[in-house]
Amino acid sequence: MRGRCLARHGEPDRGCHLSRRLRQQLPGGPEDLPASGGADRAHRARHEQDTYPWLFVSVSSYSPFARQSIVQTVLMHSLFMCRFFPTKANRRMRQIAAEIERILKGIIAKRENALRAGEATSDDLLGLLLESNMAHTRAGGNSKAGITTDDVIGECKLFYFAGMETTSVLLTWTMIVLCMHPEWQDRARDEVVHVFGDRTPDYDGLSRLRIVTMVLYEVLRLYTPLTALQRKTYRPTELGGVRYPAGVVLMLPLLSVHHDKEVWGADAHEFRPERFSEGVSKASVDAPAFFPFGWGPRICVGQNFALLEAKMGLAMILQRFSFDLSPSYTHAPFTVGLLQPEHGAQVRLKRLQ
Ligand code: HEM
Repeated sequence: MRGRCLARHGEPDRGCHLSRRLRQQLPGGPEDLPASGGADRAHRARHEQDTYPWLFVSVSSYSPFARQSIVQTVLMHSLFMCRFFPTKANRRMRQIAAEIERILKGIIAKRENALRAGEATSDDLLGLLLESNMAHTRAGGNSKAGITTDDVIGECKLFYFAGMETTSVLLTWTMIVLCMHPEWQDRARDEVVHVFGDRTPDYDGLSRLRIVTMVLYEVLRLYTPLTALQRKTYRPTELGGVRYPAGVVLMLPLLSVHHDKEVWGADAHEFRPERFSEGVSKASVDAPAFFPFGWGPRICVGQNFALLEAKMGLAMILQRFSFDLSPSYTHAPFTVGLLQPEHGAQVRLKRLQ
């Protein structure tokens, strides 16, 4: 069963280390990049090719699976512009957006009134955000010190979109992969039953699940929900020996890094949770190379919560069911915002006695 999960895309990887690959995009080395624009046409053409859509020139060196995913991501971004056309679907989308905004404004106003009246709001994220914002505004002595209602609405939307589908696709891929590797399904179930029996999983027990954690990490590596991150230079920036002018969009192809044989070894495309048996830092040759939650100041604020949620969900499923893939399942990882199974996840669950 090993390696079956990516078999459809199983061409050999010709990948190399990311920073070296970045440098290789520039035929004449870093000096080839002008600080802004280009003097002659040929220079400008190469400059534009090397900087703006540099991922187009670089994807050819990635594995077909990673390449397909990157191209899908770029196409998605191009299609994003189509939302401004006055089509029926776009009008409906705007109506729904306005309705969501109206509902959220109502909820926020109700909570703020309750806070002003000294009533405790429920102990949830929105309550905490509004409480802290109000305290900040009072301390600052003016209404502009805190964030606006539109900002609060933005935060609500961000947490919903960033937090819901990501964890849901992680669980979906985990179910699929555990169907493909029943020996790991058994090992994960044995551990869950050993720790919890048939009790509802609790926080302490979940943090003791070693096999389940390894499985989730390996799924996050192979089927990284957010396949790429983007950053834009806001001033001339040097990166890996390359000088970029301001306004360049750089893409960190997480999925490609997670599938790089130089970083993860010859079995990079295979499902081998044991590579995480000594933790994340020892799993790859070239640490750190595991970025499912991003890195640096913008790292996912919900990563611990996401893993807790995924462990809880998976533990409860493993306690109650065994599962395998339906013959109608077709393996086709596909980027639609996040990495999804294109034709759905047809999994058959059998209740355990
Ligand atoms: C498997 C689940 C998840 C994955 C793979 C994931 C992945 C990521 C990644 C890669 C980023 C960084 C984006 C960037 O740098 O541009 C991010 C940011 C973020 N995530 Fe998650 N996430 C997950 C679950 C969650 C959950 C459950 C929540 C909330 C409860 C959450 C809330 C956020 C927020 C608010 C940000 C923005 C942080 C900022 O910009 O400072 N995520 N996530």
